[in-house]
Amino acid sequence: MQNQLTSSRAVPNLHRIFAFLLLLAFAPLALAQTASNAPPDDQAVRERVDSLVKQMTLEEKVGQLSQLFRFAPSKEVDAAVATGQVGSLLFVTEPAVINNYQHIAVEQSRLHIPLIFGFDVIHGFRTIFPAPIAMAASWDPAGVVREQAIAAKEARSVGIHWAFAPMLDIARDPRWGRIVEGAGEDPYLGSAMAAAQVRGFQGDYIGAPDHLLACMKHYAAYGAAEGGRDYDASYLPETLLYNVYLRPFHAAVQAGIGSAMSAYMDLNDVPATGNRWLLHDVLRDQWKFSGFVVSDANAVKSLETHGYAKDLHDAAVIALRAGVNMEMAIGFTAYGQNLSAAVQKGEITLAQIDEAVRPILEMKVRLGLFEHPYVDEARSQQILTSPEHRTAARVAAERSAVLLRNEGGLLPLKKDAYKKIAVIGPLADSQTDTLGSWVFQPNLQEAVTVLAGLRNKLSGRAELSFTPGVQISRKIPSFFDEILHRTPPPVWTPEHAKEEMAKAVGLAAASNLAILVLGENQDMSGEAASRESLQLPGQEEQLLEAVVATGKPVVLVLLNGRPLDIRRAAQHVPAILEAWYPGTQGGNAVANLLFGDAIPGGKLPITWPRDSGQIPINYAHNTTQAPENQGKRYWDEESTPLFPFGFGLSYSTFRFTDLKLNRDHIKPGESLDVSVEVENTGTATADEVPQLYIHQQYGGTSRPVRELKGFERITLAAHEKRTVHFSLGTPELTYWSTAKKDWVEEPSTFDVWVGGDSTASLHATFVIAP
Ligand code: NOJ
Repeated sequence: MQNQLTSSRAVPNLHRIFAFLLLLAFAPLALAQTASNAPPDDQAVRERVDSLVKQMTLEEKVGQLSQLFRFAPSKEVDAAVATGQVGSLLFVTEPAVINNYQHIAVEQSRLHIPLIFGFDVIHGFRTIFPAPIAMAASWDPAGVVREQAIAAKEARSVGIHWAFAPMLDIARDPRWGRIVEGAGEDPYLGSAMAAAQVRGFQGDYIGAPDHLLACMKHYAAYGAAEGGRDYDASYLPETLLYNVYLRPFHAAVQAGIGSAMSAYMDLNDVPATGNRWLLHDVLRDQWKFSGFVVSDANAVKSLETHGYAKDLHDAAVIALRAGVNMEMAIGFTAYGQNLSAAVQKGEITLAQIDEAVRPILEMKVRLGLFEHPYVDEARSQQILTSPEHRTAARVAAERSAVLLRNEGGLLPLKKDAYKKIAVIGPLADSQTDTLGSWVFQPNLQEAVTVLAGLRNKLSGRAELSFTPGVQISRKIPSFFDEILHRTPPPVWTPEHAKEEMAKAVGLAAASNLAILVLGENQDMSGEAASRESLQLPGQEEQLLEAVVATGKPVVLVLLNGRPLDIRRAAQHVPAILEAWYPGTQGGNAVANLLFGDAIPGGKLPITWPRDSGQIPINYAHNTTQAPENQGKRYWDEESTPLFPFGFGLSYSTFRFTDLKLNRDHIKPGESLDVSVEVENTGTATADEVPQLYIHQQYGGTSRPVRELKGFERITLAAHEKRTVHFSLGTPELTYWSTAKKDWVEEPSTFDVWVGGDSTASLHATFVIAP
């Protein structure tokens, strides 16, 4: 492969001269960019794109609309690049390989148009940050900006230009494995995380040095898959679409995102990738999005599978007409095979092709690819190994953990109080499961497991022993194991399983403290990884109970990407820390949290059900008949969640007082200030997240019982008191009314609550009247 690519760089000099002239022609723009470190002039970008489009043949344009996966050396992919049949590659991560492909594109293709390299940079590139659901649990958008900026810098250093992130799918069904990739159930928190990620990936403008082009996905409503089964159809009424599912996407557009990925599933029976209402009417007409849309992998071809397109040709025509600019595909593209013919047949006009290709070229121009197509291969190593990035990953993991229970103040543990500590559980020393899903560049040796983090913390102070206790194995073979030819480890025999369990219980009994690290393997969350039950997998529940039965103090650390059924643990285990998939520095972060060198301040970005039978359950449901019986809707289980949205404990305590509104009457269009006093009533500096919820008491449609409309993560010293302000105005008080078919801000009485979670009781009201 290497030789082949290197030799293909020996192109005629004429091409080199052309490439050089082309660079000279655009040098002023390049200089302007470097000198001012500012975005290029819009007019100059447009003119340059126009000039390119004028010179391009139909086939060259279709090439720019096509993106191919390159998993391993592939003659087909090499040929496609050399002949201008692709405008983008994904899954190439080695700087030398990226440069080789770029040389082919720039030096051999007639117009020297560089490739744009895309990759799933979801929660880090080499330094892995906590999974996105955990990032959301930090309730710290500023931190998320920093984290995704580091991810961008690392990815850009190897030659990647484009991240297939942020994933903005609202998810209200924890059975859906991809809940781990998003910000949870809430549109307000989801929008804040969306804007933060766009800012982190893209920087101040598209083309900012060391940043990437971001891609919001999966547009849209992918998270509402029926039954939580990945890829299954979504059926959503307008009110949920506009008021909930589309909001984070709109926030990303407002934050200046440059690309979007169309989703796989049917939305109300129209596949998202062929859905002109979504891709054009909402995205471009209503929101004025001016970037480009890429399909999800093979999603254009899937239009045929869905029974929406007659054949592949029809699928290409439908997708292009709907607004999919670029097709992402494996092996071949439906666009490449069919669009030229479709133009010749008059099914697609040349103007439509130009409209599709323009924003792609525009992004290539904005990213500076024409001036700087190649990556400095030597620089990446230095960036990928930056100690500051590792520190940022540890801090991120500390800030995203959520303390779910701490009976009797077991946590923080005193460093010298436990001479013998048993660390038990199949995830305690698993590097892969510490990192989480969507990690392709793992520096596995570098991932600090919980066991390793505890060893780092306690070396010489306590005797640590480890045993897994149980094994988590799959019931149904994994779709990805098949694709990636992975062989799962052999399943323990029943006898061996018994021995391992007995060993773990014996270890706990012989220790002064047991730290159980349970949850899910990382591949139980993510794409094609739904679960029908939220139970702790395998024999974890039995292990937990047997260890608790030893009578030793037990701390449960959870590594997982979704809420789990931990009803028994929530009764019998005194301390539970939700660490999610905490990333490269996860173990050090968990050790710091358990021993009080960091104090948990994360909050749940999702309502935590008692079990899967309660799904869907989210805090922002409507008030209906007999709300006083809201908690008694089921015969066989409480109807309230195990932990509410926004919940999370601290080692300190906080008091909320003096809720004040500066006005109790406003007119539509006006705003008011809400203030609250927050006091750290404990003895340590710690974080709290004051959260503001509203409820519109009456109006043109029923409104949710509570909706988050403001939050801020603050740090308070012991006994410190601070006034926190929130503003309520049109952006917070407007909603999409299915009665009016419009955005409305209605005269009504509004409840306001502020507190540390969605059950906050400090209450006030105000009125909107004309
Ligand atoms: C399919 C996934 O749905 C999407 O999230 C991802 O970005 C693409 N494949 C590329 O890997």
